[in-house]
Amino acid sequence: MSFFRKYFEGTDDRVLMKWAHYYDIYERELAQSRDRPVSFLEIGVFKGGSVPMWKAFLADGSRLTFIDIDPACANHAEPGTTIEIGNQADPDFIEKIARTYGPFDIIVDDGSHVNAHQIKSFELLWPHIADGGVYVVEDCHTSYWPGFGGGYRNEASFIEFAKRLIDRMHSWYTDQDEMFPFDPIAKELESVRFFDSITMIEKRIKTGPPTLYIIENGRIEETTRPLKIRGRRSAFAGKDGS
Ligand SMILES: C[S@@+](CC[C@H](N)C(=O)[O-])C[C@H]1O[C@@H](n2cnc3c(N)ncnc32)[C@H](O)[C@@H]1O
Repeated sequence: MSFFRKYFEGTDDRVLMKWAHYYDIYERELAQSRDRPVSFLEIGVFKGGSVPMWKAFLADGSRLTFIDIDPACANHAEPGTTIEIGNQADPDFIEKIARTYGPFDIIVDDGSHVNAHQIKSFELLWPHIADGGVYVVEDCHTSYWPGFGGGYRNEASFIEFAKRLIDRMHSWYTDQDEMFPFDPIAKELESVRFFDSITMIEKRIKTGPPTLYIIENGRIEETTRPLKIRGRRSAFAGKDGS
């Protein structure tokens, strides 16, 4: 039986509220993070059900921090966890949280789900994700809800922001410098992964630009030459039927 199914059987009256398919995603995608103590932050406490859940899911010795704008949420802290009260979009509050409890291996944004807040919190907290860590945003379907500042293909939505992160991750390869300059976030962006309503953004600090291996007769030549080529043409021109 999965960790979460078993966990649900022993829950108490502290309501836990996440979409059903998130649990399989977490069990699969965060599996490696369970091998060692981590520093964890969740935005959004509500009735407190996720506090004992994350505590049980993560390795003993993990440092768990939760934030919520509602002062009543402070009552849901339990041993080994901390709950701080404040606004996820307030730079001073988030800076204080990051300074006190960061850097974080895992951050889960399950707060207001307002698109501008999701983007703001990401921008404030991304520098405080540890090397190898992951930033998770839940309920990204609000990117399609105008009432939350979203709407189909609304540039201001979190999903559109995350799609642009994909471009920024590839800016090493920029070949149209004026419209698509190199973005330093490429030096630390490992992946941007989309699941139904969940976006996961992984950090990995890179020591240099991506390199190409040219392997022949047991020898490896490592080069960044393709990154310097400008005005590329298809290597397959005329060979692919075009
Ligand atoms: C969906 S609930 C959290 C559910 C909880 N994580 C769980 O898994 O059961 C969202 C919470 O975000 C809080 N919230 C709303 N706006 C916020 C903001 N601007 N900053 C921080 N928390 C906020 C609400 O008070 C509410 O408790």
